[in-house]
Amino acid sequence: MKTVTPRKDLLSFDDMSREEALAILDTAKPFKDLFTRSVKKVPTLRGKTVLNLFYEPSTRTRTSFEIAAKRLSADVTNFAVSTSSVVKGESILDTIDTLQAMQVDYMIVRHSASGVPEYIARHTKASVINAGDGYHAHPTQALLDAFTYREIYPDLQGKRIVVAGDILHSRVARSVFALMHLLGVEVGTFGPAPLIPPTIPDYVKVFTRFEEVLEFNPQVLYLLRLQLERQTANFFPSMREYHRVYGVTTERFRRIREMGMYIMHPGPVNRGVELVDDVMSYERSLINAQVENGIATRMAVLYHLTPEVKTRSGETEDHA
Ligand code: CP
Repeated sequence: MKTVTPRKDLLSFDDMSREEALAILDTAKPFKDLFTRSVKKVPTLRGKTVLNLFYEPSTRTRTSFEIAAKRLSADVTNFAVSTSSVVKGESILDTIDTLQAMQVDYMIVRHSASGVPEYIARHTKASVINAGDGYHAHPTQALLDAFTYREIYPDLQGKRIVVAGDILHSRVARSVFALMHLLGVEVGTFGPAPLIPPTIPDYVKVFTRFEEVLEFNPQVLYLLRLQLERQTANFFPSMREYHRVYGVTTERFRRIREMGMYIMHPGPVNRGVELVDDVMSYERSLINAQVENGIATRMAVLYHLTPEVKTRSGETEDHA
């Protein structure tokens, strides 16, 4: 496996080079190859403890991190926030100090507030992986998406992707934009103007009509869920209207199929809103492949990180 520069945490792609991203993606391949063997485990993280610390619901990310850590022979604990002392008002920092005292090596953190994983990373010697924070980032989702894309096109340089839907509330979109750009993919986006943030990076082409998406001719159309739970304003008249104007309708699906475009979606899916049911069984739907690849990609991320001893002020200490 490829040797890479040690990194303690994975919080976003802000400080990641193309070389490092490719190293993680290349490492995921041999881990995926393990899955067809009778023994699917390797001893890489034997004796290490991985903690899933999810302050928000998750099906795919939490489960795949748990499976990934177990396949690396780590001990895994799922911290149940709803039945913890968090509900008695314990602060994030006190929770982290308590868990740190139990010698946790890796913390997988999801939180509704942007920046919480970074805050935790500054206060713990454990490696922190951002499993989704507010609208900010979801780097392991983007990595598993890129891994899935590379299974079809091993060199992504010059390929194209359009991310469609609720960009404003999507940490997935922000991480997908950043990583795809890092890997040389041309990036476009399509959705209702109020759901396209003004801070969208310059390299993202913004399309307001589906015809423009077809002209751009992306290899992958990446659909996002409408995040109704995060929306405080009415951005469009109704779900039906959203589907008609911005969703993959039966007619649009016919065009997509004719053009041989692949479909991705991070899940969970709102059937009948961002896509019609038929998309789920489309031969070029990569939605199940994305879920499957989440395990190997997260194994590669855990393998890639190096926990270190840090004080609360951030100074590095010698290992005892
Ligand atoms: N894609 C994703 O983050 O899904 P979950 O919310 O189920 O983890």
